[in-house]
Amino acid sequence: MMRIDKVLAHTGYGTRKQVRQMIKDGRVSVNGEIIRNHGFQVNPYEDEISAFGEEVYYRKYYYFLLNKPEGIISATEDHIHETVIDWLGPDFAYMELFPVGRLDIDTTGLLLLTNNGPLSHRLLSPKQEVSKVYIALVTGEVTQSDIDAFAKGLDLGDFVTQPSTLTAEEYSPDHDLSLTEVVITEGKFHQVKRMFEAVGKTVVQLQRVQMGPLTLSEDLATGEFRELTDEEKESLREYGLIDK
Ligand code: URA
Repeated sequence: MMRIDKVLAHTGYGTRKQVRQMIKDGRVSVNGEIIRNHGFQVNPYEDEISAFGEEVYYRKYYYFLLNKPEGIISATEDHIHETVIDWLGPDFAYMELFPVGRLDIDTTGLLLLTNNGPLSHRLLSPKQEVSKVYIALVTGEVTQSDIDAFAKGLDLGDFVTQPSTLTAEEYSPDHDLSLTEVVITEGKFHQVKRMFEAVGKTVVQLQRVQMGPLTLSEDLATGEFRELTDEEKESLREYGLIDK
């Protein structure tokens, strides 16, 4: 059971203070009866709650896929930079979302945003070995020895990387740039950039296109975001996704 004012504040009807006023004004009903007590207890999944005559659909957890643009940081709050949470705008604030892991300020692509802490924890746990797929544009031409070094594990000084898969997609001699795909199962700070540095290459552009079962869908342009589909949510169930 939950207090009605909490349910309404968590479904975007306003601050606690605002929803209390709504309740006092007789705008809220539970199972067909107007209630005026903001401490009224409801079962948000079973009771029929309406506000301003509209059904209130309560969920504890929210899941969004963002195609992160460049220039914003993977944090919830920051004094200097715009964050991925600022990017969504104030309408989403009540969901208390946070990014699952980090992409660098200049990295684009798939970022999961949720308020489900245990799910985030499991997706980020090294033990889970969730694979992450990146498209990287790098300087120079990728060689077989680079591919072998990625497969073997690279010594980055403070740690040795898990075996990863580097695929050379295309080389442009004019620009001396290679388009590559990298699959890693960990996610240390600047990991992909540091791995290329270790074989003498610089990452010029980096985009994440996959994380575990989630892929960056074609319909999501850079900067766009949407809620996960039911199929996508289903695919996360083994990592501890909860609907309610
Ligand atoms: N590796 C990096 O170097 N940067 C990212 O943003 C993600 C992986």
